[in-house]
Amino acid sequence: MTDSLDYAATVLRRCDELAAFSEDEGRLTRRFASPALRAAGEAVREWMEAAGMTVRRDAIGNLIGRSGDANRRTLLIGSHLDTVRDAGRFDGALGVLIGIACAELLRDLPYAIEVVAFADEEGARYGTSYLGSRAFVGCFDEEWLERRDADGVAMRTALGRFGGSPDAIAGCRRDPADLMGYYEVHIEQGPTLESQDVALGVVTAIAGQTRATITFSGVAGHAGTVAMSLRRDALTAAAEWIIATETLARETDGLVATVGQLTLDPGVGNVIPGRATLTLDLRHAEDPVRIRAGEELRRCAEAIAASRELAVEWRSHATPAVGLSPKLTEQLAEAVAATGQPVVRLPSGAGHDAAIVSTIAPAAMLFVRCAGGVSHNPAESVTVQDVAAAIDATTRFLELAA
Ligand code: GLV
Ligand code: MN
Ligand code: MN
Repeated sequence: MTDSLDYAATVLRRCDELAAFSEDEGRLTRRFASPALRAAGEAVREWMEAAGMTVRRDAIGNLIGRSGDANRRTLLIGSHLDTVRDAGRFDGALGVLIGIACAELLRDLPYAIEVVAFADEEGARYGTSYLGSRAFVGCFDEEWLERRDADGVAMRTALGRFGGSPDAIAGCRRDPADLMGYYEVHIEQGPTLESQDVALGVVTAIAGQTRATITFSGVAGHAGTVAMSLRRDALTAAAEWIIATETLARETDGLVATVGQLTLDPGVGNVIPGRATLTLDLRHAEDPVRIRAGEELRRCAEAIAASRELAVEWRSHATPAVGLSPKLTEQLAEAVAATGQPVVRLPSGAGHDAAIVSTIAPAAMLFVRCAGGVSHNPAESVTVQDVAAAIDATTRFLELAA
């Protein structure tokens, strides 16, 4: 445990150091393909090299450190380096840094370890989640390269400036032939572990999610001269739909729906909004419930648009719910028990790269308690003791996996 505590202190210090790589002054924002993400990646590369790893960056910007090169079997350990806007410092980074710490601690495993720092999990810049892991498993949709961020920068352009290769994304696909599995440590981002007074949780499943971008298009006009009965106001249509969305989620057990972004055009105080573009994040542990809700919300948007004589456009993509590998999850539970910690199993409402990588390799995940269950918020926090417990459980898991 002394070793784990030392390594945990290093991991937390590195989380602090990474938090300084931000697009925004005074708060942590590190979105896909930003200079801040590039700089964070360079720091992580140095730590990987210091841990004895050979490091490469793929075409989408995932950073991959490998140790134990002579071995033919490989275990992936990963998480992401991008963040939401005004983020906490542990979401994603903790898993990458624990992976590096454990690879350094266990240099003579009979298999290779590849620590993967994914370039985009959050989707904060382009509204497309998991760009990094999707490229890694070979299911990246090349049409996304033409998407634009809020400043009008196309993903293709941003990726080129970042040092990536938009035309070579197919080459990011990791051949699964030698893969034993994928393992991810992540903060829980919810209150279950804290409420049960335990440091660690073994994840059983990851909820599915639908992400949609919805645009209501009406007619911009003069705020002082267009009578209320003649208006085709895109924002009031969006507002009606947002309330309908909240109502459906409140009335459907286990369904959560969030509109996290709303952009108005022209966005001027004395102009009736001509266009309102908003995002929907819709999640449920059971795919049929989420899919039905998504269809209902789409019909609802169309009905609202028709009744107000507007047009509506709906673009969405989905990630199905994922059950984690029973075999690896049992080994992880055994590893947690061997550290003297109680074994608590729980599903994840948050999305994780494990959901995507599980399509090419069996996956397991360990949660670390975070204070108050707070996440996607600068108040995110973990203790050095809990991180040491996670390192302890992870090293035992890696030994068991042999
Ligand atoms: C990732 O943080 C997610 O949106 O679940
Ligand atoms: Mn997150
Ligand atoms: Mn995350």
